[in-house]
Amino acid sequence: MKRFFSVADVDNLEEIVKDALALKANPNANESLGKYKTLGLVFLNPSLRTRLSTQKAAMNLGMNVMVMNMDKDGWALETQDGVVMNGTTVEHIREAAAVMGEYCDILGLRSFPSLKDKEADYNEDLFNKFIKFCGVPVVSLESATRHPLQSLTDLITITEYKSIAKPKVVLAWAPHVKALPQAVPNSFAEWMSKAQAQGLVDFTVAHPAGYELAEEFTEGATITNNLDEALANSDFVYVKNWSSYKEYGQVYPVSENWMMDNAKLGLTNDAKVMHCLPVRRDLELSSEILDGPNSLVIKEASNRVWAAQVVLKRMLEDLNK
Ligand code: CP
Repeated sequence: MKRFFSVADVDNLEEIVKDALALKANPNANESLGKYKTLGLVFLNPSLRTRLSTQKAAMNLGMNVMVMNMDKDGWALETQDGVVMNGTTVEHIREAAAVMGEYCDILGLRSFPSLKDKEADYNEDLFNKFIKFCGVPVVSLESATRHPLQSLTDLITITEYKSIAKPKVVLAWAPHVKALPQAVPNSFAEWMSKAQAQGLVDFTVAHPAGYELAEEFTEGATITNNLDEALANSDFVYVKNWSSYKEYGQVYPVSENWMMDNAKLGLTNDAKVMHCLPVRRDLELSSEILDGPNSLVIKEASNRVWAAQVVLKRMLEDLNK
């Protein structure tokens, strides 16, 4: 594996989940695989889970890890070509990425969307430039449109906790105070759509009108504006806010109650409730659910290590060929 950016970088979902769960059962089985190899984790935006779980995964594989908080500690980055850099940007991505590629065998990058320039965000302008100029394998730590380590984690978690062969999985929009990216729901939807195509889940997306995701991510999914209907017979509910794709980055007032609480949980098949975290308590998801037996959020976050480890293991195996 030379790149982990989307579900398209994985052919067989069942196989990668099986491999991740094998690592969970035996975390240090490959402790020498990454000896003398360096992972660089580059953050243009904040992170708790992605930062720590990916570091832990790399350490389990014997790698050295360097973390660069570009947003706080790096030079202000220029990403456009043909710009006379006489303003606030200090270093061009051409040099910055190339230099980091000299120090590292594998790089991870987190870069959120602007939520202003839809075309640049959905073209993954910055991410593609980073891949092009760094010259080493790159793992996405969340890009403008996707969060594949989170989505792989979510599939691992659903596989672990499902009690029937093909559970009903619902991606449920939830309220928030800020305009959030579509990366997590896009990514979850594209992984679940592929999982549905491979017979692993039955997938529904529920959101208020105006919050449609880009069609490329929801192929084959049942899509509805009625949350209560969507929750009927559901086995897993994945709660997440996102801003509008159509009116890019906009937030519409929503009068109905879209917060997942015990009343809504009562409509499900005693569903397990998931969220990528961080979560706004009693805004997106009720405390009673988060603190109750149906919540998987901590176990889900814990599984981030095995998602990162299986991806890094595949990249290292490729490098060592
Ligand atoms: N879920 C997730 O990616 O968490 P962080 O933003 O804290 O890394």
